[in-house]
Amino acid sequence: MKILITGAAGLVGSHLARRLAPENYVLELTHGDLDIADCSAVRRRVLHENPELVINCAVLQVDESEQEPARAQAVNVDGPRFLAEAAREIGAEIVHFSTQYAFDGEPAGRLPYTIEDDPRPVNHYGRTKVAGEAAVRAACPRSYIVRTSWVYGSGKNSFLCTVADDLKAGKTVRVIDDIWSSTTYVADLIERVMAIGATGRYGTYHVVNAGVCTYYEFALEAGRLLGLPRDRIDSLVEITHESDMKRIAVRPRYTPLRCLMSEQLGLPPMRDWRAALAAYVRNG
Ligand SMILES: NC(=O)c1ccc[n+]([C@@H]2O[C@H](COP(=O)([O-])OP(=O)(O)OC[C@H]3O[C@@H](n4cnc5c(N)ncnc54)[C@H](OP(=O)(O)O)[C@@H]3O)[C@@H](O)[C@H]2O)c1
Repeated sequence: MKILITGAAGLVGSHLARRLAPENYVLELTHGDLDIADCSAVRRRVLHENPELVINCAVLQVDESEQEPARAQAVNVDGPRFLAEAAREIGAEIVHFSTQYAFDGEPAGRLPYTIEDDPRPVNHYGRTKVAGEAAVRAACPRSYIVRTSWVYGSGKNSFLCTVADDLKAGKTVRVIDDIWSSTTYVADLIERVMAIGATGRYGTYHVVNAGVCTYYEFALEAGRLLGLPRDRIDSLVEITHESDMKRIAVRPRYTPLRCLMSEQLGLPPMRDWRAALAAYVRNG
């Protein structure tokens, strides 16, 4: 299959490209290769390459979106629409990633969010990601929207990606203990996206590992998996609260996800976050 990936230097894009390359012809387009916010460049490139599948992994991240709303609109809404329009023009499918930040973090009864819950984002990133989903759905009927949450894997400098290495190296880590969500090992995300793609059932999916945790619980589990004694972990893990972090964009407090589409398709539940983290600690 000929597959065109945008944002291919990022966490999800780089892992996807590596995983798909052996069995497919994969065009890995980094930001430098293709700016998805450039309408004519997108159309020209997609029509020229004529892939069967477009996978959009480009994104403007959370705090940057708050600081630069016009750029967030361009990268998170307009760019996905340009890609979806071009995909439709050539009869291709499109996979577009979205986020648990579609939701406000105050679910009734603390139940995981499903696609039946109305999006109610609390920050600009979330608002643009929800608008980007709608733009892709409207532009291309052959679209998969994949909402995921707190993704980690090798190669990115983010808390979830580096905490195990930091603890192993004896570095102190500051962790938030009052925000909860689903976590997602990038290898598991990719396997499930491939399984979904094989079904041909277009729609909106929630792809995360089972269970819910805080960053603090994630750090404790990483330390435990590394075989560190509890008092050593406690000496390295400094607890903090979301409000103390003074981050630019507000974060929703409680956003675990559940995938009704996968359940309807009979896809098995994804493994528990602890088992996924164990695989990451073991394999990277
Ligand atoms: N990581 C998570 O925890 C998480 C959670 C929920 C949902 N998601 C979703 O998963 C998807 C992938 O996220 P990720 O974590 O892989 O992001 P990432 O690591 O930040 O990578 C995003 C990539 O997009 C590129 N990019 C930015 N603007 C672009 C543009 N105008 N044209 C082309 N490329 C552009 C960036 O390149 P430059 O850096 O050079 O600009 C970067 O390489 C996104 O849709 C995101 O919303 C991720």
